[in-house]
Amino acid sequence: MSTGFDRDPDEFTRGARAVVVYPDLGGSSRDAEARLEETAGLAVAIGVEVVERVALRIRAAKPGTLIGSGQVEALAETVRDRELGLAVFDAALTPVQQRNLETSLGCKVIDRTGLILEIFGERARTAEGRLQVELAHLDYQAGRLVRSWTHLERQRGGFGFLGGPGETQIEADRRLIRDRMARLRRELDSVSRTRGLHRERRQRAPWPVIALVGYTNAGKSTLFNRLTGADVMAENLLFATLDPTLRQISLPGIDKAILSDTVGFVSELPTQLVAAFKATLEEVVSADLLIHVRDIAHPDSEAQRDDVESVLKDIGVAEETPRFEAWNKLDLLDAERRDDVLAEAAKRDDVLAVSALSGEGVDTLIDRVAARLTLGHRRYRVTLPAADGAGAAWLHQHGEVVEHWVEGDTAIYEVRMAPKDHERFAVRNG
Ligand code: GTP
Repeated sequence: MSTGFDRDPDEFTRGARAVVVYPDLGGSSRDAEARLEETAGLAVAIGVEVVERVALRIRAAKPGTLIGSGQVEALAETVRDRELGLAVFDAALTPVQQRNLETSLGCKVIDRTGLILEIFGERARTAEGRLQVELAHLDYQAGRLVRSWTHLERQRGGFGFLGGPGETQIEADRRLIRDRMARLRRELDSVSRTRGLHRERRQRAPWPVIALVGYTNAGKSTLFNRLTGADVMAENLLFATLDPTLRQISLPGIDKAILSDTVGFVSELPTQLVAAFKATLEEVVSADLLIHVRDIAHPDSEAQRDDVESVLKDIGVAEETPRFEAWNKLDLLDAERRDDVLAEAAKRDDVLAVSALSGEGVDTLIDRVAARLTLGHRRYRVTLPAADGAGAAWLHQHGEVVEHWVEGDTAIYEVRMAPKDHERFAVRNG
């Protein structure tokens, strides 16, 4: 069977002229414009040219097409007139709805899950991230073998799912998918074991880990760069970061800390993707401190905060983990709103208003983070044989050496450090 869509799936996304559709079923706390903006941003991230954006009020979801028949017709006309090749629906479509819409609109249709899968497929970099995304993709495809088929033989990691040879293949394809999923699960098992070993090794590293978390496009990578001076990809592409990026930084009173940048969160994360998403967030679960970066200029800032908090809870971040909210993009606010935000932030110990772009407020953030991490540190006097270089290095690594001097064969250190580290030091030195 030829559907007219049996071509390389990438042809339908990369460079495709598209309409982004937000079917507004009511009851969403989110602003329709902002939803369209976010979805268009996601589409642009996979190389789609967004030509039109439409929010459609839906009174009752139609089982066959989700949107009403008049709306389908109007949309089909837009697709024809503007010569569009793709409609991106910011909704979860059933396989049947997707197929019917493709037929009526005369163009490719993808839904929110498909869109996010495409992005994850492009951005996953670690072995585990890639395997998880591929698994999620296959799972999604398995339910969509009605018409579309995937280019399994292409073996290119994140598969496209936007076309294929059709019905005659379905049974064989199902089996292929099942086999491949089983193989991926086995590979994942072995990868997770190796990763466990790596993590153990890292956990022995004595430095505190600070994780940046936040909704997609909140400014995590930009802040990460500010804090590390590193040139991590910070771009106006959603999901620029899928894998946590780790850097070493030093903070006042803390010789070394590890800063970790993580993938951006989104609302309504497709369930098939949760595992893939979590695989990219394990630094967060074991972090010593979290900085939740929020785009305070975004109309849905509050809803985004709630989404992030609920994911953090889901993945098992302990409530006691110290966390700060960095209210970012302060520079985008008008004078009045800026005053309000600053006043609000000043009332709270755990909130700092910043602009990662201009650097405003970032020094204060650093000081507060450092103070929180060194909380409970005390000043100790420690003596070592003057020749004990390793011992001296240990003290520098675990504490802040305030003063030190040598008396004969003995070196004397005044060090600020955590009582726990002081105990460990005592044990080390018998
Ligand atoms: P994901 O990788 O999608 O999770 O995004 P992210 O949270 O890492 O955001 P990123 O740092 O890539 O920034 C997203 C966009 O916001 C970029 O265009 C940044 O230049 C912009 N941005 C970040 N911080 C600020 C800020 O303080 N002010 C302004 N005006 N723009 C900012």
